[in-house]
Amino acid sequence: MTDVSGKGSQQRDVLTNRQGHPVHDNQNQRTIGARGPATLENYQFLEKISHFDRERIPERVVHARGTTSYGWFEAYGRIGDEPISRYTRAKLFQEAGRRTEVAVRFSTVIGGRDSAETARDPRGFAVKFYTEDGNWDLVGNNLAVFFIRDAIKFPDVIHALKPDPVTFRQEPGRIFDFMSQTPESMHMLVNLFSPRGIPADYRHMQGFGVNTYKWVNEQGETVLVKYHWMPKQGVRSMTAADAAAVQATDLGHATKDLRDAIERGDHPEWELLVQIMSDDEHPELDFDPLDDTKVWPEEQFPARPVGRMVLDRNVENVFAENEQISFGTGVLVDGLDFSDDKMLVGRTFSYSDTQRYRVGPNYLQLPVNQARHAEVRTNQRDGQMTYHVDGAGHVNYEPSLLGGPREAPRPAHDEQGPLVSGRLTRKRIPRTNDYKQAGQRYLLMEQWERDDLVLNLVTALKECDRRVQERMVWHFLLVEDDLGLRVGEGIGLGPDEVSHLDPLPGQDLTEEDRNRLAKLG
Ligand code: HEM
Repeated sequence: MTDVSGKGSQQRDVLTNRQGHPVHDNQNQRTIGARGPATLENYQFLEKISHFDRERIPERVVHARGTTSYGWFEAYGRIGDEPISRYTRAKLFQEAGRRTEVAVRFSTVIGGRDSAETARDPRGFAVKFYTEDGNWDLVGNNLAVFFIRDAIKFPDVIHALKPDPVTFRQEPGRIFDFMSQTPESMHMLVNLFSPRGIPADYRHMQGFGVNTYKWVNEQGETVLVKYHWMPKQGVRSMTAADAAAVQATDLGHATKDLRDAIERGDHPEWELLVQIMSDDEHPELDFDPLDDTKVWPEEQFPARPVGRMVLDRNVENVFAENEQISFGTGVLVDGLDFSDDKMLVGRTFSYSDTQRYRVGPNYLQLPVNQARHAEVRTNQRDGQMTYHVDGAGHVNYEPSLLGGPREAPRPAHDEQGPLVSGRLTRKRIPRTNDYKQAGQRYLLMEQWERDDLVLNLVTALKECDRRVQERMVWHFLLVEDDLGLRVGEGIGLGPDEVSHLDPLPGQDLTEEDRNRLAKLG
């Protein structure tokens, strides 16, 4: 191993403890006589071992395995052939050629911190933009849709996907038990069990914001937006057999691939494209624009380029920069906003909440999380591991005549978006249309992708309870006849064996769904 200090063996620095005291013997603790006993005033030993005892922080409850790299985002100043200022006043997008530093963390979702990167699992694609207006996090995945559309179901979907609390094995029987009762998951399942469910590595995958956000212009006018990252390297995926072969020799092939590429100067690049819709309910569509189990048809809502991102630097320390980096959907800058997407609002609470627990209440003081290009002046004080105080002095409250930071001037248009009114309620959104886009996705696949999807579903469903198998075949028949027939055949269930099933309680079916059901009977 090379001497990474870069200093010759003669001039290497002296080892110290955390108080800066030189360590004269790092091999032997202090004992009475060579054979002990040890003494309690053994400061150097106790400090070393007790710090070691605290080396781990809780891993992320999801997306525990991941890798972080740095680079830059370059704006085009336009969206397609229009000036971008028409839609957003966010500064980072305005000028062509303007660069913003970024940190990107790619991840798998379900496995623990040391799990295999070949898993069939969504991949996280989280980007932190260090802008002059403070940080913006775009926390996305490699698949364009998600399993559920209401954040209240997130702990359940994750529990079903995580290892069984008794056997600690990821059990298809539990996963499909949950999915069989969650028809909105069909679109995601058709993606996840296709080859797209195992990206070849992190450089060859897309990224999607998945949830619907808003853009706000100088006049306070808003539009709904969805974000997409397209890799210049192309998209590559693995079949289960490819993945098994890779996994036999390497659990971390995707991290290695990315690090090695950056190291040799082969810097990966993605283009950022945005779809835009006017900010309203769009009654003309057969889905709700705030439903993250849906994609927006590109013929109607073209994906238009707004910039590109290049990754050109690896982290120097995985713990400091990858374990402690903290992304959240609440981290937006002026000109960007939330929509009422019921997943997005739930996510926005969850991220900073988990980070206060996982990293600590002052996680935003860590270099990787700090707003690098904007000054931070809060009156939030103290707490564990306070590293610095942003603004010293007597006045740590606001308002004050005596000093301290003042509120920024209000933007000219601070009321934005449509007027919303309604009764307090618990209701699913209308236009759930759970099967149509899943069927369209299936029909868009090449034959080998359909074959792979069917094989993967059949393999998993073979391990499931008969009631779960029946319900899943029923759903797949509603998605697309061919998919339902082939999966059913693979597990020995014909349409007549599932035709006795009624729709799930409260399930909304479209005209087309009802026609498909009638055919079963
Ligand atoms: C990580 C919650 C849905 C993408 C996380 C973490 C939590 C969480 C608690 C761990 C964060 C940390 O420890 O720093 C939720 C909730 C969701 C949800 C409650 C639904 C209501 C989604 C969706 C996406 C997504 C739909 C994709 C668009 C990610 C990514 C990470 C992550 C990429 C990893 C960030 C990193 O690399 O540090 N999520 N999530 N999540 N989530 Fe979600």
